[in-house]
Amino acid sequence: MSELEKIAEEIRACTLCGLAKGRTQAVPGDGNPNAAIMFVGEGPGFHEDKQGLPFVGASGHYLEELLGKIGLQREDVFITNVVRCRPPQNRDPLRPELEACADYLDRQIAVIRPRLIATLGRFSMARWFPNEKITAIHGKPKYQDGRIYYPLFHPAAVLRNPTLRPVMEEDFQRMKQLIDDFDKYMEEAKDSPPPDEPPPPPPPQQLSLF
Ligand code: URA
Repeated sequence: MSELEKIAEEIRACTLCGLAKGRTQAVPGDGNPNAAIMFVGEGPGFHEDKQGLPFVGASGHYLEELLGKIGLQREDVFITNVVRCRPPQNRDPLRPELEACADYLDRQIAVIRPRLIATLGRFSMARWFPNEKITAIHGKPKYQDGRIYYPLFHPAAVLRNPTLRPVMEEDFQRMKQLIDDFDKYMEEAKDSPPPDEPPPPPPPQQLSLF
């Protein structure tokens, strides 16, 4: 069993918080174990709870549409959430629930080692961008831990407010460009003599062509 599957099995059997009692099934996450991009949403909704898979309802269909616009399919990326069991009536996750689930996310990130983590919604954004507002920082990358953190609107918010659609599409295009530039930078760095210390993340001005 792969390390990722082992984590998923632990999540499916998890009883660390009260959400376990109300679930049909837990939703560990799904996708490419070698994904360059990892999406982190909020938590399972009705359909996710039934199917055990993340983003399979209306938000998921829209996410797939957005991926398609940058030449990707959901099989190319890894998709998960900050909580893995559906909160009752889709209420916001509570702090103890977020804390109970946090270690699973850290472990998945350590195994997948994505080059970019895209946050979907305020609870995953808060993990890497505390006290920020999505309207102010969406589409603005942060370079940390040798990877890119990239805040996006939640697809459900865009479905509720269609004026955000062009903004969301631009943010996706920029995300693709960031990944391509990051890969190019790492490829070029490979031919240089090995550094004494781990290389710093690529400077933003080299990455942002926008
Ligand atoms: N919304 C989320 O945040 N996550 C899902 O998996 C589905 C909808």
